[in-house]
Amino acid sequence: MRYKKLGARGPIVSAVGFGAWGISGRDWGKTDDNQSKLAIGKAFDNGVTFIDTADVYGFGHSEKLIGQVLKERGGKKDIIIATKAGNNFYPYLNENHDVTPYNPDYSKKHLIYAAEQSLKRLGVEVIDILQLHSPVVDLLEQDEPWEALEKLKKDGKILHAGWSVRSFGETSQAHILDQHPELLDVIQVRYNILEREAERVLFPKAMKYGIGVIARIPILFGLLTGKFTRDHRFSDDDHRKMNLSPEQLEKYLDKFEELKPVYSLFEGYTKGQVSLGFCISHPVCQTVIPGCKTGDQVLENIKAAEIDSFPMDKLPKIINSEK
Ligand SMILES: NC(=O)c1ccc[n+]([C@@H]2O[C@H](COP(=O)([O-])OP(=O)(O)OC[C@H]3O[C@@H](n4cnc5c(N)ncnc54)[C@H](OP(=O)(O)O)[C@@H]3O)[C@@H](O)[C@H]2O)c1
Repeated sequence: MRYKKLGARGPIVSAVGFGAWGISGRDWGKTDDNQSKLAIGKAFDNGVTFIDTADVYGFGHSEKLIGQVLKERGGKKDIIIATKAGNNFYPYLNENHDVTPYNPDYSKKHLIYAAEQSLKRLGVEVIDILQLHSPVVDLLEQDEPWEALEKLKKDGKILHAGWSVRSFGETSQAHILDQHPELLDVIQVRYNILEREAERVLFPKAMKYGIGVIARIPILFGLLTGKFTRDHRFSDDDHRKMNLSPEQLEKYLDKFEELKPVYSLFEGYTKGQVSLGFCISHPVCQTVIPGCKTGDQVLENIKAAEIDSFPMDKLPKIINSEK
């Protein structure tokens, strides 16, 4: 495993981390908690020191599983946890939802309350990174979300302030970095070999301000491993039914096929590993957080840390991620 400093002010993290949305028991179909905990443990045993979650994933379930694994292993030690807040699920706690409802609340009061609840579920004294969970730009242009992050930092409840950038239209959100260049330590971005809009304006600004970058959805919900065919269909309780709809699958698989010659340059590596390696080869992108449901997926994904350079000249010009 390779380790990198997450921007000028962030912590040192493994180049391959663990994305913990898929194990939440919601949005990705049913999951087995024992298998999920084994997957997290397998990651920690094999050099992963960075895990990304959100309070809303499974209405706190993802955070609770992480907290349980840390407790069973004797504490947090060198593990860095990034979580998120801003989608207020608390009114729905006792309701059944296959898919996470959207209820944005980026008020100072809610964000501080949410961080305090995350601390309890994770069983830690401080949150390493708290990210604003992909609000629309209008909300980010208000003062309260930033005042909340500032206060949480000052009160020692979080160490680093983060913003998970909303998927698509990354360029039109990039000015937010100019507005908070010192408070903001880390951003998280949808970035993969087929969706590279962030390279245009967002990444150069992150570089300029020393803001760390986490790449999410790095294997496009599993598609970049090459395992889905055009006629693959997802169950009703899997968000991919919408996000990898038949039309999206066609579109993405057309582009994926064009990249065959690039994948074949990496002998001994799977397409998934090459896709992850692409992300962490970008100088501004220090870590990648593939969602993993099993120990086998963890082991396959970790090997991507061996890839530290990428033949960018062999790729088509930047592929636009506008939906
Ligand atoms: N707005 C936000 O802040 C936001 C949004 C999305 C994601 N995230 C974060 O980013 C993380 C990563 O994104 P993601 O999980 O949505 O997408 P992803 O990492 O691109 O894809 C993850 C899925 O791919 C499949 N997979 C993983 N490793 C595999 C392997 N080696 N071989 C075959 N299949 C494999 C698994 O699903 P199956 O086995 O079921 O196919 C897994 O759940 C999330 O877990 C979350 O922490 C944040």
